[in-house]
Amino acid sequence: MTVLKPAQFLMIPGPTPVPPAILEILARHPIGHRSTEMSAIIGDVTQQLKELGETEADALILTGSGTMAMEAAIINTISPGDKVLCLVNGVFGARWVKVAQAYGAQVVTLESVPGTAIDVDQLANHLAQDKDKSIKVVIVTHNETSTGVMNDIRRIAHLVKKHGALSIVDAVTSFAAVRIPIDEWMVDVLVTGSQKALMLPPGLSIVFFGQRAWAAQATAKTHKFYLDLARCKKSSDANTTPFTPNVSFICALQKSLQLIKEEGISKVQNRHLTMKTMLRAGLRSMGLKLLVDDENASPTITAILPPGKITVAEIRKALKEDYNIIVADGQEDLQGKIFRIGHMGYVFERDILMTIACLDAILKKMGHANLSELSISAALQAGLKTNEQSVK
Ligand SMILES: Cc1ncc(COP(=O)(O)O)c(C=O)c1O
Repeated sequence: MTVLKPAQFLMIPGPTPVPPAILEILARHPIGHRSTEMSAIIGDVTQQLKELGETEADALILTGSGTMAMEAAIINTISPGDKVLCLVNGVFGARWVKVAQAYGAQVVTLESVPGTAIDVDQLANHLAQDKDKSIKVVIVTHNETSTGVMNDIRRIAHLVKKHGALSIVDAVTSFAAVRIPIDEWMVDVLVTGSQKALMLPPGLSIVFFGQRAWAAQATAKTHKFYLDLARCKKSSDANTTPFTPNVSFICALQKSLQLIKEEGISKVQNRHLTMKTMLRAGLRSMGLKLLVDDENASPTITAILPPGKITVAEIRKALKEDYNIIVADGQEDLQGKIFRIGHMGYVFERDILMTIACLDAILKKMGHANLSELSISAALQAGLKTNEQSVK
């Protein structure tokens, strides 16, 4: 028996909601991957990705999730034994350590407490002490999904460039939601995935690979075949891929990039900023504590501490059962200690207001003494203010 319920509201940090126009393309019959139509689409998507990343670097489209793109970035830049500095302030930063170690890198880490940002001054000291330039690669997660912290890539990548190492940036949960001028910031390699602000289901990833990265690729001795980016580039330059890609997803990505362009790239970025400030204002007015301070808070993910004796499991269960809204638990050490609301991609102010109102309602039912009458108006006011301040 099917019980009629409100539509599911996916407020997790990915996969994110998919617009109907993209779903419609995904439902179409696949086209031939060597057809002229497909080549035209690959050429257009590649060009649009470069525009979005404000870069002349190659934009290589890979079939596989974000972690596969992370692996591609590693195996195309390092040789076993190379020293790699991983900047770690959460679960995804720590994943890079595991990937690099799996390929024989000598990994050193610079860590910040989850919920805080990478300390850029500490990084500057660390790099200054590396007099013999033994560090070959520095890896950083732009938006640490496990906590909702945004690291300062502009400053970090500049420092790395000055040192002479290669910078690899994980922008899986920031690309397309946040402005990342790859060339201006001097980022050498940047990876992202389809199931976040690009509004597609999981399954595609993109690696931006710049000139300095290609120089490293030419001498990197790590074994590779499917993820040999030199082979991918050769095909990409001819508007194709070395092997059969997920053609349906690439067609859908073309639609996604078109939707972003039609809305306006800076408008999309401003929308994410507005959603962040609205959500934070609404949550605070309920008396809830946020894990990350305003300065380092991500525009795409917000981590919240459960109030009083109410547990994360109870909050997630009630939101799902009463309103069919899905929010995420904390990960690893933060499991049960925080819950995370994702607000990226096909998510709008309405969705933020609805989430605040429903959270407010379930907390009230659970006896949380909050100032909830104010939560929606607090959110609205914060949204208006952010909209006024946003660059047009
Ligand atoms: C920052 C970050 N990096 C990497 C990944 C890994 O991507 P995937 O799960 O698509 O392999 C994720 C996934 O959520 C992420 O948030």
